[in-house]
Amino acid sequence: MTTAPSPLVPQPFPHQAPLLRVDGLTRHFTVSGTRIDVLHDCTFDVFRGEVVAIIGQSGSGKSTLLSLLGLLDKPSGGEYTFDGVATSRLGEGPRSRLRGEGIGFVFQQFHLLERRSALANVGVPLVLAGMPALRRRSRSRDLLEAVGLGHRLHSKPHQLSGGEQQRVALARALSRDPALILADEPTGALDAESSRMIMDQLLEQARIRDSAVVVVTHDPKVAERADRVVELVEGRTR
Ligand SMILES: Nc1ncnc2c1ncn2[C@@H]1O[C@H](COP(=O)(O)OP(=O)(O)OP(=O)(O)O)[C@@H](O)[C@H]1O
Ligand SMILES: [Mg+2]
Repeated sequence: MTTAPSPLVPQPFPHQAPLLRVDGLTRHFTVSGTRIDVLHDCTFDVFRGEVVAIIGQSGSGKSTLLSLLGLLDKPSGGEYTFDGVATSRLGEGPRSRLRGEGIGFVFQQFHLLERRSALANVGVPLVLAGMPALRRRSRSRDLLEAVGLGHRLHSKPHQLSGGEQQRVALARALSRDPALILADEPTGALDAESSRMIMDQLLEQARIRDSAVVVVTHDPKVAERADRVVELVEGRTR
């Protein structure tokens, strides 16, 4: 017997399984013998093609939650299912494969290699994926062109503005065509105009690829462009 979804619960994409299923995630840390409970009960789904903003006060656990979603950290309890795979009991090998193939990251501080060109920076995940050099260069060039940096292929990070550096980081995040893009305060170090441009490109590229986006932000202008906002209050989602 099949159970029909409740008509009372809004189903944004009724025919799809969620890409992310976050089910009762908790995370605590122990510092000098004292337990610090950071995440208590985080529960929500994200579907392909959706843009979800995570908001909340400083210290509410947003970056901690994003690390769990990015498979960079493991929860203390609950289950995180990514693309149909329950991850809590997976070993490091399968976790890092899922992460590399399925998730792109954009951080507030860009994290580019200073001595390398934009082209080389975008190609870093493709080196790790074992893509041959010629294909890598051509794919990196296409990605930089897609974010409007076709004229900056050989520039190093210090020769680029903050907004341009973040566009390089975005191209790098997209390089393996991830199903999920995670961004932690991607506009936090940028002026209003660069912020608008980076969000335009993030959302446009996600739409083209039908990727889901989860973006942590303090900026109401960023949050209002999301399809949905998840608020973290003292480690609980609402
Ligand atoms: N590895 C850790 N060990 C101990 N405590 C930690 C660790 N990581 C995070 N915390 C604590 O968890 C809480 C939430 O941190 P987190 O970085 O997730 O907050 P945030 O919501 O991203 O804040 P902000 O908006 O300032 O970036 C903080 O009190 C922090 O000190
Ligand atoms: Mg944070």
